[in-house]
This record gives sequence, structure tokens and C-alpha cells, in this order.
Amino acid sequence: MKTVYIGMSADLIHPGHLNVIREAAKLGSLTVGLLTDEAIASYKRLPYLEYEQRKIVLENIKGVDRVVPQETLDYRPNLYKLKPDIVVHGDDWQEGVQKQTRQQVIDTLQEWGGKLVEVPYTQGISSTKLNRSLKEVGTTPEIRLKRLRRLMNSKSIVRIIEAHNGLTGRIVESTSVTINGQIREFDGMWASSLTDSTVKGKPDIEAVDITARLSNINDLLEVTTKPIIFDGDTGGKTEHFVFTVRTLERLGVSAIIIEDKTGLKRNSLFGTDVSQTQDSIPHFCSKIRAGKQTQVTNDFMIIARIESLILKAGMEDAIQRAKAYIEAGVDAIMIHSKEDTPDEILEFCSLFNQFEVKVPLVVVPTSYDAIYEDELAAKGVKVVIYANQLLRSAYPAMVDTARKILINQRAFEARDNMMSIKEILTLIPDLDIPDVELS
Ligand code: SPV
Ligand code: MG
Repeated sequence: MKTVYIGMSADLIHPGHLNVIREAAKLGSLTVGLLTDEAIASYKRLPYLEYEQRKIVLENIKGVDRVVPQETLDYRPNLYKLKPDIVVHGDDWQEGVQKQTRQQVIDTLQEWGGKLVEVPYTQGISSTKLNRSLKEVGTTPEIRLKRLRRLMNSKSIVRIIEAHNGLTGRIVESTSVTINGQIREFDGMWASSLTDSTVKGKPDIEAVDITARLSNINDLLEVTTKPIIFDGDTGGKTEHFVFTVRTLERLGVSAIIIEDKTGLKRNSLFGTDVSQTQDSIPHFCSKIRAGKQTQVTNDFMIIARIESLILKAGMEDAIQRAKAYIEAGVDAIMIHSKEDTPDEILEFCSLFNQFEVKVPLVVVPTSYDAIYEDELAAKGVKVVIYANQLLRSAYPAMVDTARKILINQRAFEARDNMMSIKEILTLIPDLDIPDVELS
């Protein structure tokens, strides 16, 4: 009996997949190489179902004899391991981004006289279309909450950007570029205290209370499916912080970041220009422990943000705090800096990498914005947060339009700043109403 191999993601199984499996099974004993979360995340969005869930689905499909992990997009490692007689694939990879992978498969199979069999692509259905429909259906708090951890486990670096209302949430949800055949998107949203306060016309001093911040979160939850990291400022009093943790977790927010400051909080990017006080290590650790003990799931994350570099307390202090916060049970560390260069952040990374007990590292490159994600990832950074860029882009355009109208006493001169009426009218589509009789 011949041995047959298929590589697939098997996230949203549709008749096209079943057709490939059926045709492959006719040719011999079928092994499916199931792409791991990591392999998939290397070129497109993380699958909805976890690897183990996708594996169960596949194992129960008629014709599948065995499921093994395929850990890279590249088929070759598994081909060398299994030496199949036949590889089966849809014929849709003859052109486009997968063309090179296809050629590699053909060349490798030739080494032992194997061959590639291509099955005509099933028209009219695609994972991309299903994915779009799924986004319209939405998500659940549990799935959304877990997603950040899954992303952190499967991507070299997780890319988060600030969203301060439903509209910016939609931008984060759907903005996508394709570079060299790879789909690039944001992985999730940052509910920033700075932008949440600024859009309400208030300073970033915890004057916008948790209830108001939660109303912003609700707007994001309404129209997005991606995970959310909440900027929890100082976390407030420990007695209050535990309620915040419970509330966020219940809503499906994935993580809260709290900074080790106390008293009147000022934005970190003021640095030492304003008076700011760092919390004591024991007190901040007790806040972390209280939060960790309060959360209900294993998935919610409490992330400690170290302000030592901001407050010029020194690298040694930052390192000492990181060790203490990890010991207290945080799920990740955020290290912040307001320098124009990433030097002190990179120095912190090097020292952090030598820790015996490590957690993922989060950075916010606002002032040192010339550094690339790849360089941060190479230094061991797991999450990068673009903390305020959307609002900072929108505000100058709005002020310019307001000024142009005042100067010209009509709106015509501001046209170039604006999208057309048609564009704004169609920007937010109506929800499809299911088949009911409309009154
Ligand atoms: C925020 O976005 O509110 C932050 C990051 O906390 S920073 O503004 O750099 O302090
Ligand atoms: Mg903040």
C-alpha cells in the first residue's frame, strides 16, 4: 500500500478540504501533517481552534489514518521523516505565494521517486470567506481572553496597538497588508489610559475612572474579536484592584498591566519633569499577589510595569524589581523607557535574558520608535505595544480641518483631509438581518 501525505491547517474545515482528503485516501494510507499554531502564525492569522482541537476533528474524518504535527510551513522536514510515496494538494498553489513550496515538494519527492498529485480546487468556498463570516458572528469572552496567551506561545512577537473607541477597534480588527505573500495584521488592542483620557478631554491622571474606562472596553468588545490588554495605571488601591481584575476577566479582556507607581499618577512620558513616586517593592508585590489570587481562570494575565528607567532609579533597581515581581507571580513584565534610543531597553533585555526564572517581556516603543519589531524579537521581547499612534495621527488632521474652515469660512479647502461622504456612509455596514419577517 502506498503512503500518502497532506499538509493542512484544518481550522475551518469545508467541502474543499474533504475533497482533497477523499482523493488522497483513494491513493493509499493517508497521513495528515497538521500545521501547528506556530507554523500557521508564521504566515497568517492564528487559527480559531487550538492544535489539539484541530487534531481531534481531523482524526475523525473518514480516510485519515494518522495525524502528525507539521511544525513549519516548509513541508521538507516531514517529507524527509516520512518519505511518502505521494503528496496530495489542491491545484491552487501552482501560482502565487505557495509556488516555491510546491516546487520544493516536487524536488524532494523526486529523491525517492515519490510524486505530487494535485486535486482540482473547489470553487466558491474558501477559508478566507469563512473567516470573514466568522468575524461577523463574533467571539466569546472565553475565546478572546485565551487568545493572547495562544498568540504569545505561537508568534515570535505579538503586535498590539491602541484602540480607544469602536472605530479604532475596527481599524485594529481589519487592517491587513500582504508583504511577500505573508498576511500582516495587528494581533490585539491596547486600552491605553493616555488615549482613553485624551478622547474624553481629560489628563492621564486616573481621573477617568474604571467605570468610564470599561464603557470604552465595551465599545471595543461590541465590534471586534481580537484580544485586549488593559492599561490599569497603578491598579489603584489593592482592595479596588481585585474588583478590576474580576471585571476585566469576566468581560474577556486578556491582561491588565499595572505600573509600580503610587500617589497621583502622571503619564510616564513626562519622566522626571513632573513629580512621580515609585511604589515600594513589597507593597507592589502584595498587589500583584492579591490580583493573581483573585482571578478565576488560568488564562488572565497580570503584567507588571517597571518605571525605574522612567524615574531614573537606575538599571539595577529595574532588574531587582523584575525579579521580585516575577517571584510574586506576574505573567509578564513590561519595561518602559522614554529615551529616544532603545539602548537602555536593550540593556535591560540582555540582563533579563540571564534570569533563571523568566516571563515574557513587553515593551512600548513610543519615544524610541526607530527600532524594528524583528530587532526587539531578537532581544527576547514577546509583545510590542504601539500605545498611542492612532490618536496622535487623527488629532492633527482634525485640528487642521477645523482651522481651514475658520480661515476660509467654508469646508471646501479641507477636502483633502477628509474621506468622501460615500466612504463614511459605507464604512460601517449594516448587520445582515437573518431570515425574519420585517415589519
Ligand atoms: C498609555 O498608553 O497610557 C501608557 C503608555 O501607559 S505611556 O503613555 O507611554 O505611559
Ligand atoms: Mg497609561
